Amino acid sequence: MQIQENSFLVTGGASGLGEAVVRGINEQGGNVVIADLNESAGQALVDELGDNVRFIRCDVTSGEEVQAAVSLVEQAFGGLQGSINCAGIAVVQKLLDRDNNPADLDAFSRGVNINLVGSFNVARLVAASIARRVAAAKEAGDTEKNVDQGIIINTASVAAFDGQVGQGSYASSKAGVVGLMLPLARELARHGIRVMTIAPGVFATPMMDSIPEKAREQLEAGVPYPKRLGEPSEFAKLVTHIIDNSYLNGEVIRLDGAIRMV
Ligand SMILES: NC(=O)c1ccc[n+]([C@@H]2O[C@H](COP(=O)([O-])OP(=O)(O)OC[C@H]3O[C@@H](n4cnc5c(N)ncnc54)[C@H](O)[C@@H]3O)[C@@H](O)[C@H]2O)c1
Repeated sequence: MQIQENSFLVTGGASGLGEAVVRGINEQGGNVVIADLNESAGQALVDELGDNVRFIRCDVTSGEEVQAAVSLVEQAFGGLQGSINCAGIAVVQKLLDRDNNPADLDAFSRGVNINLVGSFNVARLVAASIARRVAAAKEAGDTEKNVDQGIIINTASVAAFDGQVGQGSYASSKAGVVGLMLPLARELARHGIRVMTIAPGVFATPMMDSIPEKAREQLEAGVPYPKRLGEPSEFAKLVTHIIDNSYLNGEVIRLDGAIRMV
């Protein structure tokens, strides 16, 4: 699918990997609605990039708010071709603390809700919009076949496969994002919609800012090659390639410099 003149919803697009995706799509002439909780960062990006980028404050766990974001893409740009879901949080807590008190259940659920339920919420409303557009075009005699009508890209993590101690909520939510992909890719095939997942290793984004310098150095040392954190632009390059390459479907791609977390 070409990016130029097509329109995409980027959740979590105000920061980090999502921001790089917004820039990547914008550079290639595509339209973007950023759906994020961070209004000031989202608006700053709109001010910088111009009319082909819009922002809406949106919590990915809310049906109403994600529907409003989808509607904004439809109204502002005349139709939605795909979504890149980068909204996510990292909840870190052990099952038992130092005194053997059990983990906080609400914290666990919050991570699963934003990372996994949010991905499902965005996928269902984006797919409905694309399917409506395809059906209307067919009715008008515009298309003969459902070829490459839409793309849904979700962001998992290598933690889906190599979860570390303390990553119970994060790793299981991301494993859920991986598990969500194939049923959706199979179901949406008849609408010409592809579903892909990217599992990033360790990337230099604000999510990583809270990590002490020493821990960051250790992370870098753990990447076989290249021995550094990933750049958000490298994530964006993979996203734009996935959009462009119509034969990529129903697969999770690790983008990680061969890191395997232990
Ligand atoms: N940075 C990494 O090393 C790394 C590695 C593996 C996976 N990931 C995943 O990539 C995605 C992006 O991470 P990042 O590093 O760019 O993080 P980030 O914190 O820089 O950006 C995440 C964005 O998501 C937004 N967000 C959070 N909760 C939201 C919600 N409920 N609704 C809407 N927006 C919400 C935040 O406001 C923020 O702008 C996340 O899903 C993360 O788990 C990141």
